[in-house]
Amino acid sequence: MTAVPILKIEDLRTYFHSRSKQAFIRSVDGVSLEVMKGQTLGVVGESGSGKSVTALSVLGLVSAGPGVISGKIGLRSDRIQKDLLEGLGEFVKLTTKDGKIMEVSKDVAGWRRGAERIMSKVRGKEIAMTFQNPGSSLNPFTPVGKQITEAIRLHTSTKTEREAKERALSWLHRVKIDSPRLRFDHYPYGLSGGMCQRIMIAMALASEPSLLITDEPTTGLDATIQSKIVDLLEELKSELGITTMLISHDISIISQLSDSVAVMYGGTVFEYGPTKEVLSKRGNSKHPYTSALLASIPSAQNIREKRYLQAIEGDVLDTINIPTGCRFYSRCSRMTERIRERCVGHEPDLRETGSRHKVRCWLYFD
Ligand SMILES: Nc1ncnc2c1ncn2[C@@H]1O[C@H](COP(=O)(O)OP(=O)(O)O)[C@@H](O)[C@H]1O
Ligand code: SF4
Ligand SMILES: [Mg+2]
Repeated sequence: MTAVPILKIEDLRTYFHSRSKQAFIRSVDGVSLEVMKGQTLGVVGESGSGKSVTALSVLGLVSAGPGVISGKIGLRSDRIQKDLLEGLGEFVKLTTKDGKIMEVSKDVAGWRRGAERIMSKVRGKEIAMTFQNPGSSLNPFTPVGKQITEAIRLHTSTKTEREAKERALSWLHRVKIDSPRLRFDHYPYGLSGGMCQRIMIAMALASEPSLLITDEPTTGLDATIQSKIVDLLEELKSELGITTMLISHDISIISQLSDSVAVMYGGTVFEYGPTKEVLSKRGNSKHPYTSALLASIPSAQNIREKRYLQAIEGDVLDTINIPTGCRFYSRCSRMTERIRERCVGHEPDLRETGSRHKVRCWLYFD
């Protein structure tokens, strides 16, 4: 059976104003990716590469301006087939110079009304998201069981309160919360970070969404708790066949859980394809940034020799001053004299180098 995309993002751009308001922070700058039904797409990249803003843009949750300014976000679930940005283009006027967006004039109120109309049927119900900081994302004033019950009542066809409560309890059980009946009445502040993450996952899945977006599900947790959350996500994937967009800066987690992967940097996708190819240490046509990320994974040998982490040299790209050429130019250690001019002067496209494998780097295109 050929996999079909449930989510197809095309050339998405989400900008913010810089502090001085004189320039744009181009947080998401032409991102295209697909999440296939029943599969997990991993989105990986250093902090600040635009992963969370991509996810928040999909859910219409970017509140600061100008925010989402162009692109398509196609959702194709059993219940809804729609471009989530349909008709919103009329609220934005872009002024470009040499293909680069220089000015944005946006009717923010009009966009927001239009987006809310579309998103009210989608957010929470078709696409559910768990956030990096579960403790502050859960409602502190409502017991966790009640929060899950409310999500079930709101988003599923469950008829009675009693039935919804039973389902909430079974979700607590499913995400391996110990003593679910006891925890049901607990408030988030009484629970550990790992437990809050499990509750968030339960709440997201209890709405029976077509797509789960989970943003940094293990960040900020102790190593042992992290590996338990990874085990849980793996189990949920194999038992329930959930379609997931998994966001993490941790390449080991992405490599363990995803079928395909998008490597992001400076607001754009540098490499994209089947995880086995993109993240295998032996693969050939690999983006220098992906190679650097892979080299930063602490291997057993590195740990033995106490060479814990080989960090990537240089700073993450400042997306206010995007260079004309390759965004990775200033940190790249594999650029050759033969391609230097192109690396400096022209941004490479994301192009196929193999079956479903795409790379944005001049090394592979003569
Ligand atoms: N509300 C905002 N206002 C201004 N800049 C933002 C805002 N949200 C995110 N950014 C900037 O956008 C870039 C991408 O952020 P983000 O998507 O959160 O990165 P990641 O999730 O990959 O760590 C960062 O430079 C961040 O500072
Ligand atoms: S395009 Fe050039 S600078 Fe950019 S990653 Fe490839 S080799 Fe390095
Ligand atoms: Mg993030």
